[in-house]
Amino acid sequence: MNLYELAQPGVITNPASHVEYLTMVLKENINQASVTKAISEITNVQKSVSQKDNTCNLSITTGFSANGWQILFPNIEFPEGLKPFEEMKDGNRYFPATAGDIFFMIKSSRLDLNYQAAKYLVKFFSGIAVATEDIQGFKYLDDRDLIDFVDGTENPVGELRYKSILVADGTYKGGSFLTIQKYIDKQTMWDALSVEEQENTIGRTKMDDIEIDEDKKKPYAHNVKAKLTVNDEEIKMLRQNRPFGNALEHGTMFVGFIANPEHMVASLKQMITADENGNYDHLLDFVTATTGTNYFVPPQSFLDNVGG
Ligand code: HEM
Repeated sequence: MNLYELAQPGVITNPASHVEYLTMVLKENINQASVTKAISEITNVQKSVSQKDNTCNLSITTGFSANGWQILFPNIEFPEGLKPFEEMKDGNRYFPATAGDIFFMIKSSRLDLNYQAAKYLVKFFSGIAVATEDIQGFKYLDDRDLIDFVDGTENPVGELRYKSILVADGTYKGGSFLTIQKYIDKQTMWDALSVEEQENTIGRTKMDDIEIDEDKKKPYAHNVKAKLTVNDEEIKMLRQNRPFGNALEHGTMFVGFIANPEHMVASLKQMITADENGNYDHLLDFVTATTGTNYFVPPQSFLDNVGG
């Protein structure tokens, strides 16, 4: 089997026009039979909601945090490298670490069907977990964030995508590490910048989404600070970000898949930490991270086996 055939389908595909993000925290004293039952319902929900409209490409991607895994699957090999999200601080910038044991990302072209899938997941998992957050993300214009820049352009495609985000061998070949952060935009402050200042902050042009030349890019640009190079090799991640919210409060769900979770930590540290010249990622002056959680998204066969 090819690596990408082992992955849960939603991991390797682009974000859909509607995406629902459901976070759950486990209850106390859960029993193994209810865990198996709940996991087995994921495929049932996916099948029964999808069949209402086969054109909507509904997928449910399921991840487990380190704490979640230890409680749900105490007798199953722990995914090497899975760690809780590390809180980070520098200056007045802050990445909080927040609770989450199970994470679902429901993608399709229909908000109503995503909602229905989420509703049933909440119901079927209610014996073992409580849903603590349910965010509905959407495609805005030509894949823009609500700060009006196109997001996802530099994502890897084809073989490079699979290599960058999927575990290459071992028990969990085809699995992926996922970091979720919910960001709220400081829209008024962002809108007060000139277009040139906004472009310098992101490192790309606003309207045409073209990368600014290396010699003109600012050292504090988001695409300078988020880009990670290890031993002269650029490390890629797959960002399936989507905006969410309304005109009063909104932001971006950062949804980052990567094969080596240490690289995600390094990239986040690079963004938040002021270097020797005082440069950090200036995008962080205009957005506030309100959540931060790490998950492991096991290969599809893991869910099929656990769910029986
Ligand atoms: C509010 C949160 C965020 C927003 C609005 C945002 C937006 C963007 C935009 C507009 C781009 C340029 C277009 C593209 O290549 O996709 C970009 C690039 C990128 N972002 Fe973010 N981003 C956010 C958070 C993050 C976080 C938390 C990371 C984690 C490390 C990250 C990693 C990257 C990477 C690796 C690139 C590509 C850099 C390159 O190779 O040029 N972003 N982001």
